[in-house]
Amino acid sequence: MMERLRAVQGILFALFCALCAELFFFNFTVSSDYWSGAGRVAIIFLSLFILHRFALAAFSSYRPEPKDVFCLTLIIFGGIFTAWAGRIVALSLADYAMKIPYLRGLSAGSFYFAIPFAAGGLMLQAVLGLQHGLLYALASTIIVVVYFPSEPLLALYVLATSLMACLSLSRFRSRSAYIKAGLNVSFIAFAFALASVVIDGNPYVADIALRLVGAVVSGVLCTFAAAGVTPILEYLGGYVTDMRLLEMATLDHPLLKELSIRAPGTWNHSMVMGMMGESASEAIGANPISTRVGAYFHDIGKMTKPLYFVENQAGEDNRHDKLSPSMSALIIRSHVKEGIELAREHKLPRVIEDMIPQHHGLSRIEYFYEKARREAEEAGEDPDSVDPNLYSYPGPKPQTKEAGILMLADGIEASCRTLSEPTLDRIQGLVQKMINKVFASGELDECDLTLKDLHQIAKCFTRTLAGIYHQRIAYAEPAEKISEKEEEVVAEAALEDGAAETVAAGGAAKKPKVEGEERPAKEPRKEDLKRLGM
Ligand SMILES: [Fe+2]
Ligand SMILES: [Fe+2]
Repeated sequence: MMERLRAVQGILFALFCALCAELFFFNFTVSSDYWSGAGRVAIIFLSLFILHRFALAAFSSYRPEPKDVFCLTLIIFGGIFTAWAGRIVALSLADYAMKIPYLRGLSAGSFYFAIPFAAGGLMLQAVLGLQHGLLYALASTIIVVVYFPSEPLLALYVLATSLMACLSLSRFRSRSAYIKAGLNVSFIAFAFALASVVIDGNPYVADIALRLVGAVVSGVLCTFAAAGVTPILEYLGGYVTDMRLLEMATLDHPLLKELSIRAPGTWNHSMVMGMMGESASEAIGANPISTRVGAYFHDIGKMTKPLYFVENQAGEDNRHDKLSPSMSALIIRSHVKEGIELAREHKLPRVIEDMIPQHHGLSRIEYFYEKARREAEEAGEDPDSVDPNLYSYPGPKPQTKEAGILMLADGIEASCRTLSEPTLDRIQGLVQKMINKVFASGELDECDLTLKDLHQIAKCFTRTLAGIYHQRIAYAEPAEKISEKEEEVVAEAALEDGAAETVAAGGAAKKPKVEGEERPAKEPRKEDLKRLGM
């Protein structure tokens, strides 16, 4: 069914683009009769349809929905219209220049360098990603080759500048990304213009100046066009660009402000996860901004009952002591549901909302599950009668690399806080153990993380955590005295059991002392919960 839908999408996309190109450009061709027109439409239709099929087969991330195909078609239509209008303006200006003696050497082709062919590539890269940008670049080149067969340099110019636009925007992830991408387009266009001057051996200074200035202007026009049109596409298509995510990453969002007041421990945990996730995503080619913003919002549901999560208890009694394990698990599980509700209420982008349930996947709340089994055993009941579903998160498992990274960062950050003396070796051991454990649990089965990615992620997490917790130890006040033996027991427990269900084997798990922060003497139960990320 899906296959058929994609085939139909491909046919409509290729046919519409081919007909538009013929409609706008048939006047510019040598043979403008019906038969030659039908031939050109057929060539472009077949080329674009095969291109669409090829992209489906080659790129796992190219799975366009109908609105995506509509957006791609619309932008290619915009490119065709821009080229048509640009050519008419170029011909008119060249005619006008013929009347002025010192501009007589100007040709219409020299004006083409100022046409912002690459703007479509920038827009598609921003809203739909690199694969759609590549498709735009190749489709535009095919159309130019068919309708302007005598100008191979123009076809290559369109291809190179469009690809450069896509590449540049994928590399720059800041508010000035469009400007930097536009400058890169100008740079490539300038090099093409210079090469064309050398190839043509054109002696007219005005013509040379026109090509070079035109090349710079095309990059500037691309920046303006992309910066102006992308927000409209974003609004109409419900797309989320990196620029929009960057706005959310400024911490000015009302939800984040509320989180910092009502659940400061969770806020701190989310910030550290943001740093871990960003560096890991950068290293494996995932989207670092999406991961960072996802980390900021992943536990917003905790702010409805912040004191049931140990990172927010700040020395107060553990509220779970008075509850049954099933009630505790219910409250802990509910932070996912409440997070999704808050995300919808505040209209967070779908990509961020999806990370809220996915950061726990289908994992089990081992601490309370084991507690329930223990209590059942003590009451003379069968421990297997405890329903594991009551202690498991609803899922789904992480579906993207970014969500997979968040799942790993969540457990590792919470566990790392309980390391009594977070040396580089201990952090490294903990990170590796935790990643192995999550991988073996099968929670990462549905995202695209490879073993190589996991290796890179482990390195980045270790570096980031060592930078945060190692320093905190270095600048801490004289630590509370705990015996060497006790510390060893705690560290061993963390490394052996890894995460969630770790019970500090008889020793009080200590978190690094931060300046001005008082450390409780012995809180094994609280520290256990920290390892659960609760
Ligand atoms: Fe969570
Ligand atoms: Fe978390």
